[in-house]
Amino acid sequence: MSSKTLIKQGAEAKLYSATFHGRPCIVKERFKKSYRHPSLDQSLTNQRIKSEVRALLRSRMNGVRTPTVYFVDLETSQICMEEIRDSVTVRDYIMSVQKSQSLEDSIVQLKPLGRKIGETLAVLHQNNIVHGDLTTSNMLLQSDPMNLNLVMIDFGLSHFENLAEDKGVDLYVLERAILSTHPNSDEFFSEILDSYTQSNPGSADVIAKLDEVRMRGRKRTMVG
Ligand SMILES: Nc1ncnc2c1ncn2[C@@H]1O[C@H](COP(=O)(O)OP(=O)(O)O)[C@@H](O)[C@H]1O
Ligand SMILES: [Mg+2]
Repeated sequence: MSSKTLIKQGAEAKLYSATFHGRPCIVKERFKKSYRHPSLDQSLTNQRIKSEVRALLRSRMNGVRTPTVYFVDLETSQICMEEIRDSVTVRDYIMSVQKSQSLEDSIVQLKPLGRKIGETLAVLHQNNIVHGDLTTSNMLLQSDPMNLNLVMIDFGLSHFENLAEDKGVDLYVLERAILSTHPNSDEFFSEILDSYTQSNPGSADVIAKLDEVRMRGRKRTMVG
């Protein structure tokens, strides 16, 4: 691997850009948390790395685009993966669409993206992949004028589970993230849910759980 350039410093990991046998790659390196007991910290970090790699592979095997994993090193807590080139986060994409046009026009323009996200989440959930941290920063769009190339990333909190409750919570996390990050995004989230249920006819129990979790959330805010 070539020398690395730091591109992002998150709460859990540093991201570097580098090359791996001539291919542009991203190195995600999880760092030590000094407030945690060292061996507990190491085992949590290893768990995150293993969950991430497993879900990246499993998603891809089921037809959801994710970066190819080049190598994993538990000693240095690194995952080296394909860099999704010429991509923007869905977060930045939505913001640029909303900035450049009227609310009505941006709703129309974002509709296909909402449908694509819904279809993609339906595939993940039908294969029992619960992402665990669905936000618009954890989805990339690779530029391609003919297609919406959605690439899912950041699976460190994912798990493999066939429970409607976990899938409902996954959708709830995304709903909260979207409504709090993007103004006037109710219709965008409705589009996601609509396409999710259409692509996943057995999802009525997941939507029922989503409603349940929403109610709980509301009660919590009312109590204070
Ligand atoms: N494979 C990749 N190709 C291109 N950009 C990436 C890739 N992986 C991560 N990124 C960029 O780095 C950011 C942080 O990566 P992420 O895996 O979400 O880590 P974190 O846990 O810090 O959120 C992403 O929002 C995205 O902008
Ligand atoms: Mg992230």
